[in-house]
Amino acid sequence: MHSSVRKAVFPAAGLGTRFLPATKSVPKEMLSLVDKPLIQYGVEECAAAGLTQTIIVTSRGKTTIEDHFDLSYELEQVLERRGKADLLEAARAVARLTQVSYVRQAEALGLGHAVLCAREQVGPEPFAVVLSDDVIQSVAPCVGQLAAVHAKYGASVIALMEVPREQISSYGSVDAEEVSPGLYRIRSLVEKPKPAEAPSNLAIIGRYILTPAIFDSLTRIKPGAGGEIQLTDGMRHLLGSEPIYGLKFEGKRFDAGDKQGFLRATVEFGLAHPTLGGAFRDYLRGVTL
Ligand code: G1P
Repeated sequence: MHSSVRKAVFPAAGLGTRFLPATKSVPKEMLSLVDKPLIQYGVEECAAAGLTQTIIVTSRGKTTIEDHFDLSYELEQVLERRGKADLLEAARAVARLTQVSYVRQAEALGLGHAVLCAREQVGPEPFAVVLSDDVIQSVAPCVGQLAAVHAKYGASVIALMEVPREQISSYGSVDAEEVSPGLYRIRSLVEKPKPAEAPSNLAIIGRYILTPAIFDSLTRIKPGAGGEIQLTDGMRHLLGSEPIYGLKFEGKRFDAGDKQGFLRATVEFGLAHPTLGGAFRDYLRGVTL
């Protein structure tokens, strides 16, 4: 699928505190879901949607992410010598997925600030933002679903999902008008509201297509929820000058940055795995509950 959106920004500078102690020295983005690190799922999703460039916003202690997307001559030589063609291909394919560049976020000042760090690399064009702990199982890549809406309206588009109201305080929540089935025009957005104050139970999920005007908005806002520069607040500012759309995407989303969500994702991605799935299904049938 082709899209006018070429670049995707992956904020990956967070501390991953929800997943301690696993994330004490391993970046959250590098936790392995079945046989690939979380961030690779997002990068593959973007590649499947026709995006070609990846900008990863990193911080101290995240160098394994950079190593992962490089070629690894030593490893490749060993696999070649041992005649392990499949494994060699799997290792090489990662480096071929996309063209990657990195930018550092020196201080954890929030998701909006992380996106702002990528301003130079993105330049004056629409771009995707992917939060790699939201892992999405779908037929059509979620980023591609959003890019199709962007291609039609030329505006920013965010992924939406209904959640139980008592859980809305973990998300950004939107006030929106449904303009066609599953497609919303956003009236306002609020980051991590109390359930009683949330405009709806429509939650923002970590996939966005944003116009470059978001960068200006991000420089104009004050710290919000948690004392951080929030992307949601930046988008609310952007609404003052541009429309924003929301799409209830097709697919199943897992919060793999959370221990329970990660376990669920492991089971479902394990079952769906092309070579491991069959035997795993047989195994699960025998598990005593
Ligand atoms: C971020 C966003 C939030 C969104 C969520 C989706 O929050 O700030 O608006 O609903 O991702 O996963 P975080 O989970 O990083 O606290």
